[in-house]
Amino acid sequence: MKKQPITTVLITGGSSGIGLATARLFTREGVRIAMLARDGKKLQEAASQLDPVPLTFPVDVRDTEALALTVENVVQSLGPVDVAIVNAGIGLYGPVTQTSWSDMKEVLRVNVEGAILTAAIIARRMAARGKGSIVFVSSILGKRAIPNSAVYSASKHALQGFADAFRLEMEPHGIHVAAVLPPRTDTPFHDRMMKSADVPASRVNVPSVSADVVAEAVLRVLMRGKREIVVSVPGKLFTFFGYHFPHLGDLLLRQHYRKSNAE
Ligand SMILES: NC(=O)c1ccc[n+]([C@@H]2O[C@H](COP(=O)([O-])OP(=O)(O)OC[C@H]3O[C@@H](n4cnc5c(N)ncnc54)[C@H](OP(=O)(O)O)[C@@H]3O)[C@@H](O)[C@H]2O)c1
Repeated sequence: MKKQPITTVLITGGSSGIGLATARLFTREGVRIAMLARDGKKLQEAASQLDPVPLTFPVDVRDTEALALTVENVVQSLGPVDVAIVNAGIGLYGPVTQTSWSDMKEVLRVNVEGAILTAAIIARRMAARGKGSIVFVSSILGKRAIPNSAVYSASKHALQGFADAFRLEMEPHGIHVAAVLPPRTDTPFHDRMMKSADVPASRVNVPSVSADVVAEAVLRVLMRGKREIVVSVPGKLFTFFGYHFPHLGDLLLRQHYRKSNAE
């Protein structure tokens, strides 16, 4: 799809990590930003780091009515949304057998329901204008699942599936749908992640990138009208081998977790 001019960008999960880095990058591009997240105070603090200070809209992406109202408020305040960065997400670490159903449901509600709901609400408005872009912040675990992250991986696989179908549905309406798949990223995500009791996180070093690197990928996917960007060379190798050579992926992951448990 062709590059479209960007005036107004809505970012869910804008108060931290990748969302905040993306807001910072777009602010430098002179774009109007609407930052959404649940914690209004944290949103304000995050927004105040940026210049000009973006408008903030506290909302929980799981709340259908509140989200629809918030998008309406964004449009009233800033004008039509040209780009939506569907980024809000939470993590969950631990074996399925030791994880409560309420924690599993929580991840699916935020990462899948919340993301789909955000995209659907905004896509209707974009379709009426015949233009716009929607970028999902997915994960390399949306291409290749890993142990102790089964439900989180499932949530990102669901998002990938949704994005692939939605992209083709929205194309005739002039809407560009894309996904950015980060590898492990240095953000507060890992400290905030829900964990099953007594399961130590993998201690084997995993290559990580900064939130700024992911933000640049978000900008690139938009500017180049691409369908998807997997961030970083290790991320690309992980998804390529994991997806195309699943047996090899299993083998490497078995070794990785054996080493991790032994350390
Ligand atoms: N960090 C990584 O290693 C990594 C790797 C691959 C993909 N990702 C994906 O990247 C995205 C951003 O993650 P991050 O690393 O930037 O995490 P982060 O620093 O923890 O930021 C998450 C953001 O989402 C918001 N959020 C969480 N639940 C929400 C809800 N129910 N409604 C509205 N906003 C909500 C948070 O604010 P409130 O809590 O105040 O709502 C926060 O602004 C996520 O989708 C994550 O799955 C992260």
